[in-house]
This record gives sequence, structure tokens and C-alpha cells, in this order.
Amino acid sequence: MQIYTKQAVQAYLIRSFVSERKRSRMEINMKIIMLGAPGAGKGTQAKMIADKYGIPHISTGDIFRANIKNGTELGMEAKKYMDKGQLVPDELTVKILLDRVAKEDCAEGYVLDGFPRTIPQAEVLDKALSELGDAIDYAIDVDVPDANIVKRMSGRRACLSCGATYHIEHIPPKKEGICDNCGQELVLRDDDKPETVQNRLKVYHEQTQPLIDFYTKKGVLKTVDGTVDMKDVFAAIVAILE
Ligand code: AP5
Ligand code: MG
Repeated sequence: MQIYTKQAVQAYLIRSFVSERKRSRMEINMKIIMLGAPGAGKGTQAKMIADKYGIPHISTGDIFRANIKNGTELGMEAKKYMDKGQLVPDELTVKILLDRVAKEDCAEGYVLDGFPRTIPQAEVLDKALSELGDAIDYAIDVDVPDANIVKRMSGRRACLSCGATYHIEHIPPKKEGICDNCGQELVLRDDDKPETVQNRLKVYHEQTQPLIDFYTKKGVLKTVDGTVDMKDVFAAIVAILE
């Protein structure tokens, strides 16, 4: 049996990403990364960006949750980590993301929400794009202090069918407990329990916050205040993008 090293697997993933993108032969215009602590509002803002600019919103968290809901092997594996507030291993996450970004609908750009989350993930993405002579255009850090986060998370309600997110005080659904978009029942995510949120914050500071430095050095980091009303956060983002 042939044993593949981690580097060989990464090189293979990057090669297939590049050949898929070359096949689509379209220009990539707006490639955006959303950074920020769990609950900072990455998903909320990413959806608004995607709607305004007509680009796909890609959330690795939503992809994992859809797989958990459908009982797939990937979902079962990811759940082990997510329920503890830990990161899903890079080996699983990177392949899913590169496969998704190579799809035709990403040819004119995309907004990534929750990826990259570690320096190795950022490096693979960077390498895959640079082989196409391309790079991330904006890394937008939605800045919210830890103290605000736990309160926000306990009020969040999520639709596991379409990925929509609500807040019982700030953005309630029209009918309590029911998704406005698809009519499915809303849930408190398993990883939104206060003790798990604390662990997610710890993991964020240790493994994800270093990306702020990474993208600052690349000259694409922009920071917005995520504590203000979500419409004002969005206005600040649009001012950056336009
Ligand atoms: P993921 O789903 O990405 O979760 P997260 O980063 O922890 O972020 P959240 O989705 O919890 O928060 P958000 O910033 O999107 O905030 P939202 O807009 O919902 O990942 C979950 C798990 O999957 C991870 O822990 C990990 O295990 C795994 N995973 C995913 N990607 C991975 C990767 N790349 N590598 C490894 N593992 C990975 O807003 C939060 C609440 O606040 C909502 O209720 C919202 O309505 C409200 N709100 C938003 N904006 C405002 C505002 N301005 N004012 C008041 N309320 C607001
Ligand atoms: Mg989210």
C-alpha cells in the first residue's frame, strides 16, 4: 500500500483545484474572507455581502452542520470536534473548501465564512490561488470583544436546513421558532452552550487570531467594529469593498 504524506495530499488538492479553475476560464473578481471570533457576526455579514454582490457565501461550519444533519460519515467525524468547541482537523476541512471554491459559481468571487481558521489552512488557500496568479482581495475582521460574545450566542437560533441565522432579540423570525426562508424549525446550536462557547473563544485566540497578522502582512486586512447595529457593520463593509 502506498502511503501519502500530508504534503503530497496538499499538493494533489492544489493541482486539482488549479485544473478545475483553469477549465472554467473565468476571471475571479471578489474573493473575500470573513475573520472574527465565534459569534462576531461573520455569517450574518457574509450573507448580506453575498446577496448584494451576487457571489456565493461559503461557510465551512454550515457545510459540516448540513453533513451532521444528513448523517454522513464526514458529519459524524466533524461532530466529534464541533461539540467540544474544537477545530475539525485541517485534512478534512481543506479538501471540502478547495472542492467548493473550484465550482463554476465561484468564478467571479466568493465570501468565505469560517475558513481559513488556522495558519496551515491559510497557506494552502494562498498557494492554491497563487498558482492561478491570484490572491484573496479582502480579509475583513469583524471585531467584537469576548465579553459580548457569550450573550449573543445564547440568543442565536439557527436553521439547519438553509443556514439562516436569527437572534431572539436582535433579529427574531416572523414566527417564533420557525425559519422565515424555508419554514423549518429553528434550533439552539449544540456548540452554543456557554461552556462550549468559552472553549471556542480559547481556540479562536490560539489558532485563528494569528491570521490577522498573516493577512495584515499581505496588505488585505480590514477591520470593522462588530459591536454596532448589523446594518452599520454592513455599511462599513460596503465602504471598504467599493
Ligand atoms: P462556524 O459555524 O464557523 O462557527 P463560528 O466561527 O464559531 O462562528 P459562528 O457561526 O458561531 O458565528 P458568526 O461569526 O457566524 O456569527 P453570526 O453571524 O451567526 O464553525 C462551527 C464549528 O465548525 C467550529 O467550532 C469548528 O469546530 C468547525 N469548523 C468550521 N470551519 C472550520 C475550519 N475552517 N477549520 C476547522 N474547523 C472548522 O452571529 C452570531 C449571533 O449574533 C446571531 O444570533 C446574530 O443574529 C447576532 N448578531 C450578528 N451581528 C450582530 C450585531 N451587529 N449586533 C447584534 N447581534 C448580532
Ligand atoms: Mg457562522
